[in-house]
Amino acid sequence: MASPGYQIESILFDTTTIQHRVQELGDQISADYSHGVTLIGILTGALYFLTDLSRAITCPVEIDLISVASYTGTESSGTVTLLKDLDREISGQQVIIVEDIVDTGRTLNTLLALLADRNPASLRVCTLLDKPDRRVVPVPIDYCGFTIPDKFVVGYGLDYNQAYRNLPYIAILT
Ligand code: IMP
Repeated sequence: MASPGYQIESILFDTTTIQHRVQELGDQISADYSHGVTLIGILTGALYFLTDLSRAITCPVEIDLISVASYTGTESSGTVTLLKDLDREISGQQVIIVEDIVDTGRTLNTLLALLADRNPASLRVCTLLDKPDRRVVPVPIDYCGFTIPDKFVVGYGLDYNQAYRNLPYIAILT
């Protein structure tokens, strides 16, 4: 049920559906990385997904966080600025970037280049949501929770002007 006061058009994925899919992704990653994996969460949107995903993984997990901003109003641009770098080296590690949503692909493209430069043993991408209709820059996605249509979604970490992140479901804004 949408809470009163929120301008929610409809719920796209409810809590149970999200948790079930996150567990499936965790199972897949556990099978692929038996010796351990470093998850790099992109702040702030991926926080909820990162914490649930990490608990669904059974192999050893290390976590680090990175924060970037892309400018030009509501649209992400080609300019992606690093706001907070990783706390640790990733050289020689098996790394998965954990993203909330891939839209134009610009943010992920920039991060992939930045992190690849640091010589991880491997570098993959896990995104909760993929909006392929909006793609401007092609990016590789290794693990994807759900492919969605070109709608603006909020909840489970995703925001609109910093609001709605704490909704326990993913909804389409009015
Ligand atoms: P990209 O660089 O265009 O792929 O943008 C990715 C970032 O844009 C995501 O990490 C989100 O922060 C934001 N974003 C894109 N689409 C949505 C949406 O539907 N809801 C909330 N945030 C979004």
